[in-house]
Order: sequence, then structure tokens, then C-alpha cells
Amino acid sequence: MNSIDETPTKAAWVYSSTGQPRDVLKLDKEFPSERNKHFKPDDVLVDVVAMSINPVDYKLMQTYQILHKFMHKSPAIPGFDFAGKVAATGPDVRGLKVGDRVWGRQSMGRYKDQGGTLTTQILTDTKCLYTLPESISFNDAAGYGIAGLTAWEGLVDHMKIEPGQKVVIVGASGGVGTYAIQLAKALGAEVTSISSTTNLQLCKSLGATHAVDYKSEDVVARLAELGPYDHVFDLINDNGLYRASSKFMKQGGAFYGIAGDITMGYLASALSRKFRPRILGGSSHPYHDYLLQAAPKTIKEFSEFVFQNGIKTVVDSVYNFDHAVAAFERVASHRAKGKHGLQNERIVPNG
Ligand SMILES: NC(=O)c1ccc[n+]([C@@H]2O[C@H](COP(=O)([O-])OP(=O)(O)OC[C@H]3O[C@@H](n4cnc5c(N)ncnc54)[C@H](OP(=O)(O)O)[C@@H]3O)[C@@H](O)[C@H]2O)c1
Repeated sequence: MNSIDETPTKAAWVYSSTGQPRDVLKLDKEFPSERNKHFKPDDVLVDVVAMSINPVDYKLMQTYQILHKFMHKSPAIPGFDFAGKVAATGPDVRGLKVGDRVWGRQSMGRYKDQGGTLTTQILTDTKCLYTLPESISFNDAAGYGIAGLTAWEGLVDHMKIEPGQKVVIVGASGGVGTYAIQLAKALGAEVTSISSTTNLQLCKSLGATHAVDYKSEDVVARLAELGPYDHVFDLINDNGLYRASSKFMKQGGAFYGIAGDITMGYLASALSRKFRPRILGGSSHPYHDYLLQAAPKTIKEFSEFVFQNGIKTVVDSVYNFDHAVAAFERVASHRAKGKHGLQNERIVPNG
């Protein structure tokens, strides 16, 4: 059922050229809303109550101008994660009604055509979202979209983790890592986290059996004592650790990495991982980079597992919608403990 609004505008954070968030990100309080458009069969219009920001959002904002033109319409609305309430639905949508609580991750196609989630209302579709129980807050669910699903895909689809296996999580105290520790533990693995001193306790409280401090310990020597390991989940692109893999990995063990970006530095490290021979300090263990896919089946399976196993969102900070630039700066600091949320206080019924 489509609903009609007399003022089809929404508030949205937008940018038209790449650069630092404080220079390019602007709040447009009269951005055209999709509320009165002719909905496609699977469309779902969502009043966004909370969204969270991920490193990919500032990486895209700081990338080459040419890629910006390829990735978005201009002006672009950043953001992929959202949690909110259904505001209207397309004619073929079943099992969702106006007012239902949902969380989701905007698909790349929708992101490109309709924009991201740093706005009061988004047009998405049934494949990108899942129903949210009353027991889970919008703020917590806003962290699932990129960080939660990336942790899940890494552990379940790529590592195919089994009970009793040993996994190292590098960069364990950030957005992806705080979900990964809990998910790996709930899937039956033994988790070793690597973080700075201030985050050791956080990692232990989430389920790490061993919390290694990269500031004060010799990480390779410690992993050699605690291993051998089946998997390393590398959330920070740690090539030094990868090159030492033979000291703490099982034969057949592998690294799984996600921290790529569109820079020459990253390209050089990825090429070195692939082609550097062992005799020149390369590793004999494979390194698999992957990109989040977020298929509807994954969203469903992740949701059910998270709801049943009480997986928590660690919230680093929550900002008012008007303070998006400060939220971006916190994410870009690379010092976060868990997720960064933005809470939308602009939501009004049908608005
Ligand atoms: N491929 C994909 O589909 C995909 C999906 C999601 C994310 N990503 C990428 O994955 C990376 C991680 O994302 P995120 O959201 O988890 O980032 P994040 O929240 O910004 O991670 C911050 C954390 O990194 C830790 N850290 C920084 N340097 C470290 C080091 N040398 N050793 C260990 N920990 C360190 C910090 O802990 P301390 O303060 O304790 O050092 C902090 O807790 C980003 O590059 C992101 O773009 C990719």
C-alpha cells in the first residue's frame, strides 16, 4: 500500500565531491523524498530511526573523484546500515506492514540509484531487510548491516568454522571484531583477540579465551605459544603477521582479510601477499580477501542466530543526526570500540 504525503521531502546528508567529511558533507533538509513515487513490486520505504557509519563510508567519500561519479548519483547520500519502521510498501510485499520494525543493509544497486542511509527515509526492498523484535533497540540493530554481516560471512561462509577450531581475530575491538568475537565463540570456536591494552578487557568480556596486547606483547611469539591456529580473521590488513604465519598456523590454515581500500598502498600489500615467494619472506598459507555480499539468506540466518544467541552490539558512541560530521571523524580515528551510531530525531509519522 502506498501512502501519500503532502510534503515529499526528507533530511539527508549529501556530498557532491570527494574529500574530508568536514569539507564535503552537507545537511540538506529538503532532499526529494521517494514517498510519492510509483513503487516497484518489492519496494519498502523505511523511516530511518538509527543508522551507523562504517569505514567504507569515509573511504568512498575520500576516494578518487572519477570513482565517485561511477559509484553514485550526485549528490550522494552515504551509509549502508539502517534500522527503522516501515513507512509504505510496494504492491507485492507480503509479511510486512506499515509500522513494522526492521533492520537492514542498503544494497549496492539501491545505494547507487536511490542513495544511502544517512537520511530520515530510505527506499529499499525486501531483500535488504529483516524484521526486528521489540527486545532489540534500533541503535543496536543499526550496527548489523555491514559490521555484523561481514563478521558472519567471514566465519560461516568463508572459514566454515567448526566447534573446537582456533581462530585469531586481529583488530578485534572494532565494529567487525566485536561481532566476530561473539559469533565465533557462539559457533564453538576458541577465540584469540588482538587489540591494544585498553581493549583487552572488552575482548575478554565478549568471549575471547586469550586476549593478546599488540602494544606490549610480542604477538607472533604469543600466538606460537597459544596455537596452532586454523584461521586468522585479519581486520586491519596486517601483512607483518601474515608473513610470520608459519610460526603459529596449522598446515591448511588460512588468513581471511577484509580491510582493503582503493589505494596504491593496499594494492602493493595485496600483490606482495599473492606473489612474494617464501624464500623472500612470503607465507605458505593462503590469504583470502572477500567483500560483503549480504544475500537475503545470509541476512535471515544472521538475524536468527543473533536473536537466539544474544549477540550484542558494542556501541562506541551515539550522535544526534545533526552531528554526522563528528561521527565520521570518530570512525576515521580507527580507535573505535565497536560501532558508531547516529540516532535520527527527525522522524515524525508519515514524514
Ligand atoms: N571487505 C568488506 O566487505 C568489509 C566489510 C566491513 C569492513 N571492512 C573493512 O574492515 C576494516 C575493519 O572494519 P571495522 O568496522 O571493524 O573498523 P573499525 O571499527 O574502525 O576498527 C577500529 C579498531 O581497529 C583496532 N586497531 C587499529 N590498529 C590495530 C592494530 N595494529 N592491531 C589490532 N587492532 C587495531 C582499534 O583497536 P585499538 O584502539 O585497540 O588499536 C579499533 O578498535 C576496515 O578497513 C573496513 O573498511 C571491509
